[in-house]
Amino acid sequence: MSLRIAIACFALLLCAIGGRSAKAAEKAEILEQAHSESNWMLEIRKRLHAQPELAYEEYETSELIRDTLKKLGIPFQHPYAGKTGIVATIGKGSPRIALRTDIDALPILEEVDVPWKSKAEGKMHACGHDAHMTMLLGAAKLLKAREQRLPGTVVLLFQPAEEGGAGGKKLVEEGALEGVAAVHGIHVWPPLPTGIIGTRVGTIMAAADRFSVTVHGRGGHAAMPHLARDPVVAASAIVGALQHLVSRETSPTGSAVVTVAVFNTGAGAFNVIPDKVQLGGTVRALTREQFDKLRERVREVIEGTASAHGCRAELSWSAQAYGPTVNAKDMVDVVLRAGQSLIDAERVQALEEPTMAAEDFSFLADAVPGAFTFLGINNESAGSVHGLHTPRFRMDDSQLPLGAALHTAVALTFFEDHKASQSDHAEL
Ligand SMILES: *[C@@H]1O[C@H](CO)[C@@H](O)[C@H](O)[C@H]1NC(C)=O
Repeated sequence: MSLRIAIACFALLLCAIGGRSAKAAEKAEILEQAHSESNWMLEIRKRLHAQPELAYEEYETSELIRDTLKKLGIPFQHPYAGKTGIVATIGKGSPRIALRTDIDALPILEEVDVPWKSKAEGKMHACGHDAHMTMLLGAAKLLKAREQRLPGTVVLLFQPAEEGGAGGKKLVEEGALEGVAAVHGIHVWPPLPTGIIGTRVGTIMAAADRFSVTVHGRGGHAAMPHLARDPVVAASAIVGALQHLVSRETSPTGSAVVTVAVFNTGAGAFNVIPDKVQLGGTVRALTREQFDKLRERVREVIEGTASAHGCRAELSWSAQAYGPTVNAKDMVDVVLRAGQSLIDAERVQALEEPTMAAEDFSFLADAVPGAFTFLGINNESAGSVHGLHTPRFRMDDSQLPLGAALHTAVALTFFEDHKASQSDHAEL
């Protein structure tokens, strides 16, 4: 090797190292900047928490988001998925990566006594969507400050109706992901210790659907059951028979759930056999095949058992089942590296198991390669120890900056990967 070549190689190496550490420094800066915005984010989180709105009715929520985007100088299109969805953009050109939050609340009466408690009686942000929105707005602010340096576009998705309304599906159908190469979403996650980032390749959340059943019998006097067709006994047999679908028909190493959560005889008297009984519940599985088979068998068991008892079952499913949420390997890799650039590597985890909860992020991750990430919030001193969808659920607000930083770092890491693969192609 001649001296000149050796010197050139050395200079190149220095540049490469310099480039890498500049990137590392930029990422370290992200978390710092996110922390310096924590009061701004906290104020948004509290305002959103106090004004929860249910699926497809997120009017004030949508307005608050649009006002914030306007103040940040971020252009957006509205409405999407009904009247409340928003799609905003930072940067220009391709590649395009989408960052998503859900915006709806739940029909739950809040029991947490804080100054920012829900002002809408019987409605509550009990699934952390107020935190998700805040994190995405935080990321919007950080990314906007870097807009000139972005080698592509970050698309911000503010999606209505995650809780059963399949707003994500509408967003996809209305073209919000057109030209988008990847999508990332965050869910705050009480089962994980606070500040842990967890995700996994492949299925991370289950497919789910809900059913309701009316078991029609013939009512009568409780003392003369032989003259009636007792729908209470038929419905009880149905509940029992459904248990066998998981214990006897699902592989012992597979995962499925059939839960009957509603059992309503409507009877007001102890000596009357009612005409009908109302049942309701949920069916979940980790693969689409298993899920379709399970739903088919639930129907057969319910109808067959009812008819064996001389009754008739009328079964209906929700208008929109959610498929399994399946993470793409490359995107999970982006999330893990982005997370490790922000916090200690041992706090960024590839989760072993999926959860049987479901998400309409599944529609987005079906449309383009996606990653859905859990952000741990279990923190006793913040009072954040209760489960999602419970009236005592409480966010650990100390994690808002990490969520904002993670979205930001995921976008930047995605762009870096894209650039690297472009220059790989150029060398070929
Ligand atoms: C837990 O919450 C407390 C109180 O809000 C906060 O000071 C602390 O930093 C949180 N713990 C971690 C590990 O983030």
